[in-house]
Amino acid sequence: MAYGDYQIDIYFNGLQGVQPDLPMAFAELERRAEAALAPSVWSYVAGGAGDEATQRENVAAFARWGLVPRMLVGAKARDLSVDLFGLQLPSPLLLAPIGVLGICAQDGHGDLATARASAATRVPMIASTLSADPLEQVADSLGETPGFFQLYTPTDRELAESLVHRAEAAGFKGIVVTLDTWITGWRPRDLSTGNFPQLRGHCLANYFTDPVFRSRLAQPPEANPGAAIVHWAGVFGNPLTWEDLPWLRSLTSLPIILKGLMHPEDVRQARDSGADGIYCSNHGGRQANGGLSSLDVLADVVDAADGAPVIFDSGVRSGADVIKALALGATAVALGRPYAYGLALGGEKGVTHVLRGMLAEADLIMAVDGYPTLDSLTREALRRIG
Ligand code: FNR
Repeated sequence: MAYGDYQIDIYFNGLQGVQPDLPMAFAELERRAEAALAPSVWSYVAGGAGDEATQRENVAAFARWGLVPRMLVGAKARDLSVDLFGLQLPSPLLLAPIGVLGICAQDGHGDLATARASAATRVPMIASTLSADPLEQVADSLGETPGFFQLYTPTDRELAESLVHRAEAAGFKGIVVTLDTWITGWRPRDLSTGNFPQLRGHCLANYFTDPVFRSRLAQPPEANPGAAIVHWAGVFGNPLTWEDLPWLRSLTSLPIILKGLMHPEDVRQARDSGADGIYCSNHGGRQANGGLSSLDVLADVVDAADGAPVIFDSGVRSGADVIKALALGATAVALGRPYAYGLALGGEKGVTHVLRGMLAEADLIMAVDGYPTLDSLTREALRRIG
């Protein structure tokens, strides 16, 4: 079945008088998620750094590119499949790591609901270090769909090793090391309410279940959660340098993907340091304001990656955005806030709906605009319009 056929289901349901109960457009998804989430969770997820100019720029950058339609191509069947680190994936879409999925879901188990949606759609999940349920349970919920583990590298090297080895044992297919968040950026929305979810004990299951982390505590986290949180805050962020990469590389034979790379020189150095994949992202504008959009640096990052896979995120809000990032050279495109909003509205069903909608729109654009394969989607398919 083609991804675009999701619309056929919806129109036929309409004939039976059944209207979709989940939003079809991003603006409504966002509006309804705001109403569904607790105010503190909403502002944490929707907010970003500074006056959020970089965050808005991530979205605005997509509007500066237009796709050029080609006719008489006969794009009756589209092939969105992609090879990523030897994994044969049916589409180039991924679920970006989001560290508060647990509390975005109404039942408090959003990581598991997202993993089930990943299993249902075959869209791989990049599971955050910050989760409400331990990574082993997240991995179990992924079924046959491959997943990746995102590492926030702690300052305690043995703890970092333990997390990576647990991820490997649980069956994750790659380690995404996030480089841009060893310290939290200046986030006025959260600062104005003094709200930082992890300091309130949310989404720390991977630490609290970890034998190395537990061995560092005088009392187990169940007996003294306050002390465990304080210990977590002390070890969370490691300001890594290039000198740390050989150590990280030595921890696993899984592919290592470096997340947060925006400068071509960093991309080249990452390749030289043994990174298998490049993840072009500015963390959705949550970390440093006053920056470039992620899309504006993508082509340079792809060129510097010199054939290594490039994962892209930040600002993707539609299937058209997915297609534009692919045309600029991304190997795979990760979705962030939109699926967290789907999770808030409908749990597993909400995430599945957002993913199916995103894939349907991408597939239908390839059909209408005459680009039947991802190979046919090159920079030639785009014109700069602003
Ligand atoms: C994130 N992101 C993130 N990244 C990461 O590597 N580990 C994490 O735990 C988190 N946590 C997180 C929480 C929330 C609430 C958001 C919105 C984002 C960043 C994420 O992976 C991705 O880079 C951005 O979400 C992309 O921007 P958009 O498209 O969501 O605006």
